[in-house]
Amino acid sequence: MKLQRQVKLLIWSITGILAVVLLMSVFWFLAQEMTREDFDTSGQENGGQYQDSVAPVDFPPLDTATDLWTAQDLSRVSPSDKEKVEYGKALIANTATYLGPKGSVAQITNGMNCQNCHLQAGTQPYGVNFGSSWSLYPKSHSQQKGDESTEDLYMRVSSCFERSLNGIAPSKGSKEMQSILAYINFVGGNVAKGKKAKGSGIYEVPFLSRAADPNRGKLIYAKKCVSCHLENGAGQLAADGKSYQYPPLWGDHSYNEAAGMYRLSKFAGYVKANMPQGASFRSPLLSDEESWDLAAFVNSQPRPARKLNKSSLHISKKYFDDPFGPFADGFSEKQHKYGPFKPIQEKSKL
Ligand code: HEC
Ligand code: HEC
Repeated sequence: MKLQRQVKLLIWSITGILAVVLLMSVFWFLAQEMTREDFDTSGQENGGQYQDSVAPVDFPPLDTATDLWTAQDLSRVSPSDKEKVEYGKALIANTATYLGPKGSVAQITNGMNCQNCHLQAGTQPYGVNFGSSWSLYPKSHSQQKGDESTEDLYMRVSSCFERSLNGIAPSKGSKEMQSILAYINFVGGNVAKGKKAKGSGIYEVPFLSRAADPNRGKLIYAKKCVSCHLENGAGQLAADGKSYQYPPLWGDHSYNEAAGMYRLSKFAGYVKANMPQGASFRSPLLSDEESWDLAAFVNSQPRPARKLNKSSLHISKKYFDDPFGPFADGFSEKQHKYGPFKPIQEKSKL
């Protein structure tokens, strides 16, 4: 019976095709599983629960040197500069009071204070201090073309006004700008020109071998940051309603995408040495992994866009963690943002 044979043939071929499809899906699934194991950055092994590193944790100090930079004492300011330097300090500590959305002098910044990042008015070791500002500015930047290739302190301060405070910088000749510059130059005036002060700037957290993971960061944030910076990242205003008791980490009033803090290494280094409040470089409260994952989470939340003259950058000389392409090295924007950074740095050294 011809028909019966044809039906049999048809059934066999369908079974055959199904078997092949089944086998292929099994292989595909296995391959997926294997890559997931190799590059597991999800932290989901425990049913999605973030596991504390064995609590309570005593992380080692980040620096045990006894000769870290300390700011030049304000009592040594010459009488003629006293008022200026003191006003400069006040502007850095309480920027919003003078220049915030309800500022008494002008309304040109987002409500944050310089001191929210430059802790203790820029004098705290590994708290983004101004120890090397007088000694190392003006700086030359191979990253920038033309006029921007030499950056003096006025340009650097302006850049924090425009990016970190997502606002407008006071003009160069203004009393405010001159006072800020006088203060920064004074506190770091005890460091030899050309020398980097010990403990100045931001701590460099060792690279992870994996990409930093926003999902993991989110779970850590919920445990260790949310009480002050809140679930929506907006922080909390102080009683005067003019400045922040707990500054925002994302959203309309936070630093913009061109700010230093938007680079993962800077954020990770800042929080490793200073957050949650109470931590310091002497007694850090976050592991390296937590610091990177928090950076990935916070810097993947919405914030004001960057305003940058893109064409002024040499693409072959971007920072390893500059998250905006184009790049000359072939790594993706995603890898430049979250890592792993080791391969990027190794390639840039070739
Ligand atoms: C959101 C955080 C943040 C705020 C707010 C902020 N800055 Fe910065 N600032 C940074 C970061 C990050 C750097 C880069 C530090 C580094 O790379 O070591 C920086 C660098 C600087 C430097 C260069 C320091 C050096 O020696 O290299 C100066 C000067 C400076 N800021 C001044 C200011 C002033 C003045 C304000 C307020 C008008 C301000 N910043 C507000 C984050 C901030
Ligand atoms: C107990 C309250 C508290 C907790 C908890 C806390 N912070 Fe903060 N944070 C602050 C305060 C206060 C400042 C501003 C410091 C100053 O002005 O001296 C700050 C500043 C910051 C800044 C720089 C300023 C800005 O708004 O961009 C970052 C980044 C930051 N915190 C991240 C974190 C992260 C991440 C965590 C969780 C690990 C955390 N903080 C936990 C109180 C807290």
